[in-house]
Amino acid sequence: MTGRVAIITGGTTGIGLASSRALIASGHRIAIGARRAGDPEVRAEVIATLGTDVMVLGLDVASRASVDGFVEKVRQSLGAPTLLINAAGIYREAFLHDHDEDAWTDQIDINLSGSFRMIRAVFPGMIAAGWGRIANIASTAGSRGERGYAAYCASKAGVIGLSKATAVEGAPHGISCIAISPTWVETPMMAAAFNRIAAERGISVAEARAVLSASNPQGRIVQPDEIAAMVDFFCSDKAPGLTNVDVQINAGADW
Ligand SMILES: NC(=O)c1ccc[n+]([C@@H]2O[C@H](COP(=O)([O-])OP(=O)(O)OC[C@H]3O[C@@H](n4cnc5c(N)ncnc54)[C@H](OP(=O)(O)O)[C@@H]3O)[C@@H](O)[C@H]2O)c1
Repeated sequence: MTGRVAIITGGTTGIGLASSRALIASGHRIAIGARRAGDPEVRAEVIATLGTDVMVLGLDVASRASVDGFVEKVRQSLGAPTLLINAAGIYREAFLHDHDEDAWTDQIDINLSGSFRMIRAVFPGMIAAGWGRIANIASTAGSRGERGYAAYCASKAGVIGLSKATAVEGAPHGISCIAISPTWVETPMMAAAFNRIAAERGISVAEARAVLSASNPQGRIVQPDEIAAMVDFFCSDKAPGLTNVDVQINAGADW
């Protein structure tokens, strides 16, 4: 295997998995981390899906010890990572008037603080290499509000701010950082939204999918490969000036 060493958090499913596939195709050596990635069955499934033997390790971005231990294992096995894709994330809907404390804390801790912990762990190695690329998967929810999404919106707005600060601090060291903000993307995370809409409206999941599809100006649901293509381009040598920006992949939608 050739190319750069890449870490993809949340690389077992959805956007992270698609990004892993794209980075492998570009010749990078990848390490995937997620909470369930420590399970041999999950690991085997991911390797089978990707069709190649990659590092798949348990990682909880909510824990500093887990993050630092994961990055150290990657460093020892593959070398110092110079690509980081922060795709690990969760979302829970909750209304402010009776917002569950854990739903708030978990989304901030995983989506925002988890991205920060990963950046902190890889940053010294990138500085030493004089080169690095960090892509944080934020969301259109980071720049627009919606009922029932206070914690998710706040966490993703934080990810956009974190990305911009990282870009400025990294620039003198050859490190670029962007936020990538998709609208709805068809992943296991979105399946929860299909289920909620179906339950609320008493319709089938297929009908709920059609509702969300129709609500997009392009009349479709964005696919994970579209996000992965942006990740891959950013990590290539073709985008040296691409940094300090929130790239929306929204198919015309504000949300
Ligand atoms: N799908 C959308 O519509 C959409 C739109 C905009 C932005 N996004 C963002 O895109 C990113 C990827 O989402 P997705 O749609 O691909 O969701 P997904 O399929 O649910 O994938 C989420 C991934 O994050 C991992 N993860 C969750 N908590 C973690 C933790 N504490 N530590 C390490 N890994 C953790 C999950 O694995 P484990 O559960 O095994 O840990 C899984 O691999 C998220 O940040 C999400 O907010 C998604």
